[in-house]
Amino acid sequence: MKRGKFIAFEGGEGAGKSTQARLLADALAARGIACVVTREPGGTPGAEAIRTLLLRTAGEGWHPRAEALLFAAARSDHVERLILPALEAGKWVICDRFVDSSRAYQGGAGGLGDAEVMALHRAGSAGLLPDLTLLIEVSPETATARAAARDGDMADRIGGRNAAYHARVAGAFADLAAAEPVRFARISGDETADVVHRHVLAALAPLLGAA
Ligand code: TYD
Repeated sequence: MKRGKFIAFEGGEGAGKSTQARLLADALAARGIACVVTREPGGTPGAEAIRTLLLRTAGEGWHPRAEALLFAAARSDHVERLILPALEAGKWVICDRFVDSSRAYQGGAGGLGDAEVMALHRAGSAGLLPDLTLLIEVSPETATARAAARDGDMADRIGGRNAAYHARVAGAFADLAAAEPVRFARISGDETADVVHRHVLAALAPLLGAA
C-alpha cells in the first residue's frame, strides 16, 4: 500500500483555511484520491476534549507553557489515532492547522521559542511534518473582517487576543515559510475562494503528479 500524502493548511484567523480544506478534499475525491479532512486542535475525541479546555477555559486561562503542552498532547493523540493510520491505509490527510500553528502562536507570538515547541512535537508526535504546508496569508483588514463576520464578539480565547499578538503570528508564519521553502507554499488568501483554490491545486501539482 502506497502511503498517502499529508497536507496541512496554515495561517491566521479568517484566512479561509477550512473552506480551502473542503474544496481540496472535493477536488481530490474527483480525481479518485481517498482523503480524510481533519482539524487541530481536535480530530479525535480526546483531542476535541482538549480543544474545549484550550479555547473555552474561563478565568485567566493557561500559562503559555501549559498551553503549548496541551496543544502537543492533542496533536499526539490525533497523529497516533487518526493521521498515521489514514496515511498508512493510503489515504491523503488534509489537516486544518498542524504543528506550524504551535510554532507561530505559542513559539513565536507567545514567546516560548521554536526549539521548545519542536521538542514537545518530537516527544508527542515523533516530529511528524506534512508533505506540503499551504500557508494562506491575508491582509490584517481581510482577517479582521472575516473573523468578525464569523465570530462576532464570540471569538475564542486565542482568536480574541489583541492585534499585536496576531501580527506576531503572521510574522512567525512568514519566517517559518521562508526557512522551509520546499515544504511550504505561500498563497494569498485575499482573492475569492475559487481563485485561492486554483492556486492551491497549482501548489499541489508536484504531489498529484506523483500520486
Ligand atoms: P479555530 O477556530 O480552529 O481556528 P481558525 O480561527 O483558524 O478557524 O481555533 C483554533 C485556535 O487555536 C486559533 O486561534 C489558533 C489556535 N492554535 C494555536 O494557538 N496553536 C496550535 O497549535 C493550534 C493548532 C491552534
